[in-house]
Amino acid sequence: MEESRTTFLSHSEEETKQFGKEFGEKLSHGDVVALYGELGAGKTEFVTGICEAFDVEEIVTSPTFSIINQYFGTDNRGDDITIYHLDLYRLHSKEELDEIGFTECVHSQNVIKIIEWAEHGQALLPAVHYSVHITIPETDESHRIIEIVEVKELSHV
Ligand SMILES: Nc1ncnc2c1ncn2[C@@H]1O[C@H](COP(=O)(O)OP(=O)(O)OP(=O)(O)O)[C@@H](O)[C@H]1O
Ligand SMILES: [Mg+2]
Repeated sequence: MEESRTTFLSHSEEETKQFGKEFGEKLSHGDVVALYGELGAGKTEFVTGICEAFDVEEIVTSPTFSIINQYFGTDNRGDDITIYHLDLYRLHSKEELDEIGFTECVHSQNVIKIIEWAEHGQALLPAVHYSVHITIPETDESHRIIEIVEVKELSHV
């Protein structure tokens, strides 16, 4: 599978959102995005930026308690688009993933699926179109290294 990697350095929360927005502008209906990074890395800030690209009016919050947030937006052609924003932090087993309907959710057609703590999805994690890795450099806690890996040969589901 061919991959392309791009790395950005963010200097602020605002810049992370801006990178998220620019990334969001490339997304298509059905794409799956896996987000990796420690607590407070900036995953939700990045998702806020993605949602800005789709003019989502709802406030983007961490779905840590609700597990799945649903947002309604508009793509660059003016067509409606639905975004599922999942946070798997609290889920640790296949049974818990089944309880929230994880498999059905991540295979929903035409919906953009964005998954925080994607590593907790384990074997149920679908093939992803992009994975985003956010790390906090030791040298500056207000900076973030954002690496985006695009998987080239996946069809959109
Ligand atoms: N350059 C930066 N980019 C993003 N966030 C930053 C940056 N510098 C500082 N921050 C702060 O880091 C925090 C990131 O929080 P955020 O909720 O996005 O993290 P998260 O990765 O989603 O965490 P969790 O795993 O708990 O969901 C915010 O408080 C934000 O203000
Ligand atoms: Mg979060």
